[in-house]
Amino acid sequence: MTFRNGNSTVLLGMAGVFLALAAAFGLNLWGRPAPLSPMLPVESWVTNTATVRTNYADLIRMKADLSDFDCYVCHDKKKPPQLRFDTNHDLIIDEAHKDVVMGHGRHNRNNLCFNCHDEANLELVQTRDGRELKLSESTGLCGSCHGPTYRDWDAGAHGRTSGYWNRELGPIDRKPCVSCHNPHSPAFPSRKPAPGPHPLRPDAHPVPPEERNH
Ligand code: HEC
Ligand code: HEC
Ligand code: HEC
Ligand code: HEC
Repeated sequence: MTFRNGNSTVLLGMAGVFLALAAAFGLNLWGRPAPLSPMLPVESWVTNTATVRTNYADLIRMKADLSDFDCYVCHDKKKPPQLRFDTNHDLIIDEAHKDVVMGHGRHNRNNLCFNCHDEANLELVQTRDGRELKLSESTGLCGSCHGPTYRDWDAGAHGRTSGYWNRELGPIDRKPCVSCHNPHSPAFPSRKPAPGPHPLRPDAHPVPPEERNH
């Protein structure tokens, strides 16, 4: 008898504790956690895998307008264009080539058109070691002056490599220099960094609004 009574006292006591807790939660005595801020989808520029430039080889594949590359529509095969200089010895670029903005190297050291283009055949480029390459295959041209960077690129340490590691499944895709560098002004344009991961509870580690979701 006493054993049973003891048992029901414990049960009653526990029921009381649970009822008290239910009342406390119901009355929200400890407050509720702040609602989570909405998780905005990542902006598309962050996940876009396109390179910063569309080069000549890409334009050929896309069957785009190639008129800028049709040198002999305007030029005469027998008369190579002449380079002209102003009184400061700066190269004068013709109005017809106003898209060509030169700035190759910090001191414009590599601005002369025929350091790269072949004056005898404008559709080709010429390397320092005397090779003639198609305008759509200019990586060897860059490599002929930028040996160490070319070596790094060839090893996959500079630029971007994608495609297949297992060559039996498919080819490797190594982006050419001109996918990222404009040959005429090759300094890589600065770009804003991608945003950090979404903080689930931003108030725990506040991020200033101007740094959120760039
Ligand atoms: C829309 C017409 C046009 C096209 C297309 C064109 N050029 Fe020219 N280019 C000119 C004119 C005009 C000049 C200035 C007069 C001259 O030297 O013949 C010029 C001048 C040049 C010069 C001398 C530097 C300068 O600006 O005066 C080079 C180098 C040159 N062109 C290379 C090329 C190459 C390489 C191509 C093809 C990838 C090409 N051009 C396509 C019209 C054109
Ligand atoms: C460092 C090497 C280099 C120099 C110097 C250079 N070019 Fe080019 N140029 C190239 C390459 C490579 C391409 C093809 C780029 C691509 O695949 O997008 C090209 C493309 C062009 C084109 C066709 C597309 C366009 O951008 O309009 C013209 C025209 C041209 N160059 C004219 C000139 C003229 C004029 C000069 C001198 C003022 C010059 N280039 C100096 C390497 C060079
Ligand atoms: C004829 C030799 C020559 C060729 C060909 C050449 N470059 Fe250059 N490049 C130079 C020189 C010289 C500099 C300047 C180095 C300096 O200022 O210290 C330079 C500088 C650069 C820079 C640094 C730019 C900066 O402002 O920091 C880049 C990037 C570059 N080149 C990329 C290329 C690419 C891409 C190609 C092929 C389309 C190419 N180069 C072809 C000679 C060359
Ligand atoms: C996928 C893009 C990409 C490709 C492809 C690429 N580069 Fe670059 N390159 C860059 C970036 C990004 C930088 C660093 C710019 C900075 O630090 O401001 C750079 C820097 C450089 C510099 C400046 C000096 C240095 O090493 O920091 C040179 C020269 C250069 N690249 C040449 C080349 C040549 C030559 C090729 C082809 C063989 C090439 N790049 C291919 C993106 C690329």
